[in-house]
Amino acid sequence: MTNHPQVNVVSHPIIQQRLTLVRDKNTKVEQFRALLSQIASLMVFELTRDHPTVDVEVETPLGPCRGKKLATELTLVPILRAGLGMTDGILQLIPEARVGHLGLYRNEQTLEPVTYYNKLPPNIAKTEVIIIDPMLATGGSLNVAIDTVKKSGAGNIKILCLVASPEGIEAVTKAHSDVSIYTAAIDDHLNDRGYIVPGLGDAGDRIFGTA
Ligand code: PRP
Ligand code: URA
Repeated sequence: MTNHPQVNVVSHPIIQQRLTLVRDKNTKVEQFRALLSQIASLMVFELTRDHPTVDVEVETPLGPCRGKKLATELTLVPILRAGLGMTDGILQLIPEARVGHLGLYRNEQTLEPVTYYNKLPPNIAKTEVIIIDPMLATGGSLNVAIDTVKKSGAGNIKILCLVASPEGIEAVTKAHSDVSIYTAAIDDHLNDRGYIVPGLGDAGDRIFGTA
């Protein structure tokens, strides 16, 4: 699974150390939020490694200098609620990014995603879109999010998550062969309630203290 061409497991030791703390059931809400934000910042550094640039020229105090600027704008699309926990960390690195919001929750019985909010920026088609959700479980929520973003005209889409299940990766890569997934871990399996094992529990509850 780690060799799937659409999947990038970001195995940097600092990310892995912080992910271990995030998984720990004794990690309190305040530290959980701070760690998730740091991890998001570090992961997006890797996700944007190949982002296209154009040459520009600036004047240093000593004369002209050729430099680079990002060739396309970035749009962040966090899936509410849990995606919000990674958004500020990314904005610290890319403060000029625009942010669209998609509200989705899983029906606890059917595990099917239900959309309750959609506010994407205009002209998203010309930008690179990063859909953000720490948990890729059945893949239902991300597949709806990708469909929604594609309907708005975007064609350049990447997924940033934290923990993915093999089942979720299979579902998303099968439905969307043009989308790359960046995750810090691929866990063992989903349990019968659709939770990732070992995972980290309910990400939204742990970020917002609602358990
Ligand atoms: C969680 C998580 C994902 C979704 C993943 O959200 O943040 O959005 O479940 O599951 P899936 O891959 O099986 O669709 P949840 O429905 O708990 O909503 P919340 O973020 O508001 O708590
Ligand atoms: N959503 C979560 O927050 N955690 C899981 O393990 C699965 C879905």
